[in-house]
Amino acid sequence: MASKKVFIRGIGSYLPERVLTNRDLEAMVDTSDEWIVTRTGIRERHIAAEDEFTSDMATQAARRALGDAKMSPQEVDCILVCSVTFDMAFPATACIVQKNLEISTCPCMDIEAGCSALVYCMEVAAGLLQLGSYKNILVIASDKLTSITDWQDRSTCVLFGDGASAMVLSTDASGARAVLVDTLLRADGKGGDILFQPGGGSRHPASEETVKNRLHYLKMNGREVFKIAVRGMGISLKDILSRNQIELADVQHFIPHQANMRIIEAVAEASAIPVEKFIVILHRTGNMSAGSAGVAFDEAYRQGRFAQNDLLMFATFGGGMTFGTALVRWLI
Ligand code: ACO
Repeated sequence: MASKKVFIRGIGSYLPERVLTNRDLEAMVDTSDEWIVTRTGIRERHIAAEDEFTSDMATQAARRALGDAKMSPQEVDCILVCSVTFDMAFPATACIVQKNLEISTCPCMDIEAGCSALVYCMEVAAGLLQLGSYKNILVIASDKLTSITDWQDRSTCVLFGDGASAMVLSTDASGARAVLVDTLLRADGKGGDILFQPGGGSRHPASEETVKNRLHYLKMNGREVFKIAVRGMGISLKDILSRNQIELADVQHFIPHQANMRIIEAVAEASAIPVEKFIVILHRTGNMSAGSAGVAFDEAYRQGRFAQNDLLMFATFGGGMTFGTALVRWLI
């Protein structure tokens, strides 16, 4: 990472109020609590209200991160929002969040990189901060995955939930919680057809046909995603450690994408990491796509799980396929 340091000044997250349990799902599709828990570790997930959108959850998480940083919204000079369920194709959800926060004129943009997008946003924000044009960038990851969940497809609908997380990244060290050590991004477009939402874009614009064929819902080849996720996360975490000359044992906490407990256990086993080092909330939240890792980060922070000088590693994967890995040093 270049010479100018990038700090995390504030952290926040938001989960919608309504909880959908595995028992509730048993009444909706042919599944069981036992199947879901055994295959995924998920017991329940939060579901946004019908009139609660990705931008609303993003705004709530952003307010909490700004509160944590003791900053007013007016001190933000750029907003990045990542998601796979933006409010609309355009305008950018980041612009809607800017309006909600009553911030004027700062640049706003959306970034899509599947469930790895939080780390993608962290790298983009760090680059912008290091160029010197900005001082405080709001990085928000928010997903209303239930808006693209096919509630008739038991192989996917049991996996997902809604939620948002936010961070204030800054070149200003005052009150900083952590410092960004490095980020490493990867993608492999050949994996684009194992996790995707085909309908609604220029390839399959919305039509009676696309609705009839259920193309506006998330499609997934779970077994393939599983294999690529485990392999890709393992490679990325080794590479980021080796280029920073850090030993695996020197990382105190791993903050993975919260997709599936078996994926986390497989990564832990393949890389010989004690599974207790992974921060896991998916049993309560399901997979919230881009929002996932940040919510786990915020909850662990508020539980006081990080000690001064601890090294944290974000390890994410997502549709694309994409991979995002970040090293963060805790400061307080
Ligand atoms: N309840 C009961 N049975 C089910 C369910 C369900 N909810 N879903 C599938 N089954 C059945 C299947 O029909 C199949 O039955 P069959 O043997 O009679 O044909 C059987 O269970 C096994 O199905 P598989 O798909 O082979 O099950 P698998 O062990 O692979 O587990 C799972 C499926 C949990 C999806 C797994 O593949 C996985 O976790 N993959 C990774 C998924 C993931 O992480 N996705 C998120 C990625 S990115 C993002 O975050 C958006």
